[in-house]
Amino acid sequence: MLVGKRILLVIGGGIAAYKSLELIRRLQDRGATVRAILTKAGTEFVTPLSVGSLTGDKVFQELFSLTDENDMGHIELSRDADLMVVAPATADLMAKMANGHSNDLASTALLATDKRVLIAPAMNVRMWLHPATQRNLATLRGDGVSVVGPNDGSMACGEFGPGRMAEVPEIIAAIEAMMANPAVSHPLKGRKVVVTSGPTREAIDPVRYISNHSSGKQGHAIARAAAEAGAEVTLVTGPVAIPDPVGVNVVHVESARDMLAAVEKALPAAIAVFAAAVADWRVADVAGGKIKKGAGGPPSLAFVENPDILATVAGLKAGRPDLVVGFAAETDNVIDNARAKLARKGCDLIVANDVATGTGTFGGDANTVHLVTPDGVETWARQSKDEVARALVARLADRLGKT
Ligand code: C5P
Repeated sequence: MLVGKRILLVIGGGIAAYKSLELIRRLQDRGATVRAILTKAGTEFVTPLSVGSLTGDKVFQELFSLTDENDMGHIELSRDADLMVVAPATADLMAKMANGHSNDLASTALLATDKRVLIAPAMNVRMWLHPATQRNLATLRGDGVSVVGPNDGSMACGEFGPGRMAEVPEIIAAIEAMMANPAVSHPLKGRKVVVTSGPTREAIDPVRYISNHSSGKQGHAIARAAAEAGAEVTLVTGPVAIPDPVGVNVVHVESARDMLAAVEKALPAAIAVFAAAVADWRVADVAGGKIKKGAGGPPSLAFVENPDILATVAGLKAGRPDLVVGFAAETDNVIDNARAKLARKGCDLIVANDVATGTGTFGGDANTVHLVTPDGVETWARQSKDEVARALVARLADRLGKT
């Protein structure tokens, strides 16, 4: 798909720059030609010699270099490419791009280009979450810049959260998607998407509750991927320890009943994805005061069933989303159970995953999923939850386009 394509890669100054060397190789494997601009800060992390040895071309570094300008001016450099990719896109590069700066070769080429631009942000989690960076991100999205990542995870600086540059296969997938469909960088633009995520908490008394181990990572990743695809996203999440995804309308809830109410309020939507681990039961009579330890021994709790949010929405007569997606976390007979669930809940697709002890799915960063539809089962190779989210959103956008 990338045969004969010319990619101008801007390598910014971040530790993730080492991945850009691999990116060059993998793009070449697919038949693309890569030219590289290395920022001054970028040279602190990778050398012009290693970049140039891989691209087989000169490495463009200086705005006011006579030889660079004689070989190829900055305007020509950016016009000559089919696509510009900024990886890693540092906070500083994003700020320059968002504000139209042109005080070095990278920012000037990015301002002078009339081609599409993909950025792969990479920075410390606090820099990423800072309102200034988020403002710049929103501005860049509004300018039509495509964004891949960043991913959640542990970072070179020892912190944890969003800020890790997307992996090379993810960047390549984003490039291929842009090349395959130059007109549609945002396949879900103008569409509303509702996603549930995380656990619910069901009160026993004012201080105690029943809940589960759901981390919210998969649901949050789906909300983020849908926003990246241009959708207007409402994420209804139970209590989780991970940050709200950016560019998404987030509604925080506790109980299953609160979650249902928030979902109903967020409808209508084109797509609803139910990734939350909703408690099946709640305590029938929540004590008004803290239950005391006493002579009567431990209390016995009576339970009543919670509303099934997925089945409720899938069964809507009026205003049912075009695509209703459920999740099935199973510890055994994963696919058979998912098939049964698809029929029972009346949804269009079930994403089934194995959460048995030892799989590391609960709370982990990777997931092996099976897509179960009335047409059959498709098993995806184990990949990160961000990759699962992007692939799922791409699939849903594709199906929506065909409805
Ligand atoms: O029935 P089970 O809990 O295994 O079904 C899982 C799917 O149903 C998930 O998509 C989950 O978000 C959804 N669900 C729901 N409301 C419930 C129970 C499950 O939306 N009360």
